[in-house]
Amino acid sequence: MAAAAPAMRAGLAVLAAFLLLLAASGAGAEGAEGALPRFAEAPEYRNGDGAEPGVGELRSALAASFPSLRFEIYPFRADAVTGLISASVRAALEAPLNYARNYLADLLPKCVPRAIYLDSDVLAVDDVRRLWETRLPAAAVVAAPEYCHANFSRYFTDAFWSDPDLGERVFAGRRRAPCYFNTGVMVIDLRRWRSGNYRHRVEQWMELQKEKRIYELGSLPPFLLLFAGEVEAVDHRWNQHGLGGDNILGSCRPLHKGPVSLMHWSGKGKPWDRLDAGRPCPLDHTWKSYDLYIGDGDASQASAPSWASLSSSALPAAVFSW
Ligand SMILES: *[C@@H]1O[C@H](CO)[C@@H](O)[C@H](O)[C@H]1NC(C)=O
Repeated sequence: MAAAAPAMRAGLAVLAAFLLLLAASGAGAEGAEGALPRFAEAPEYRNGDGAEPGVGELRSALAASFPSLRFEIYPFRADAVTGLISASVRAALEAPLNYARNYLADLLPKCVPRAIYLDSDVLAVDDVRRLWETRLPAAAVVAAPEYCHANFSRYFTDAFWSDPDLGERVFAGRRRAPCYFNTGVMVIDLRRWRSGNYRHRVEQWMELQKEKRIYELGSLPPFLLLFAGEVEAVDHRWNQHGLGGDNILGSCRPLHKGPVSLMHWSGKGKPWDRLDAGRPCPLDHTWKSYDLYIGDGDASQASAPSWASLSSSALPAAVFSW
């Protein structure tokens, strides 16, 4: 995650997960899905080589970049989830850290009542206090911007919609019609998550996905299955997503209309890749100033420690700050 300094300095609990910095090992991909296309994404030096844990290096990089930030690091053990991961439309979506969001309530101390989850490909350009102050009504476990114009059917397969035990039946009785929401930015009520045993419920959908392919994306669909039609809607300014283009081409995309509090490079195209390749999209330049990674020979930001030695298996899933 790269966050503008004012946002990170807010005296608030912010939870940021480091995702998508790594390519899929494919370790969890099983079954008869071998025919799916594979896309190489992040360059190797960002993916690491499975060497020693880099918690110490992450700690010093964060401390150097955000001197006034108080934070804790909670490592996520990838083996908590690898057996549950199915192949998806894009190899990077199969990386275990994509699923760390399912385990926040377990990773964080029981006394933490709420978390803001942010993907690693977001840039907060506003004070996250405003997002933190989102009011979750009694029934809501998750708050996130909703996109009701998106065709919800397309997030699930025909096998899902045609199964009389699944399909419409799953969403019957929800507070509202189910709409798509993006799981890269979520305010999560951890108490309700824990008491509703949602980690187990996400895992149950992942088990079903292994038996019967009900969706094509990675970690997102189980959240739609559990919370679509129930989430507390947050202003769209908090997830200007899709800046990475689609899941196949990763082409340049402009911002949506309206105010912007958070930019999200969801999709295949990542700003660090496009910058490194010398083919940035116009909005990628905004990312550059906040990228904590310093490549070898990049003397321009030599004051911050290098992230080059962080390995993908060891990148801590969560940084909790207050
Ligand atoms: C939504 O997507 C489904 C499945 O691809 C399609 O059958 C349906 O016509 C679409 N609906 C609209 C309104 O575009």
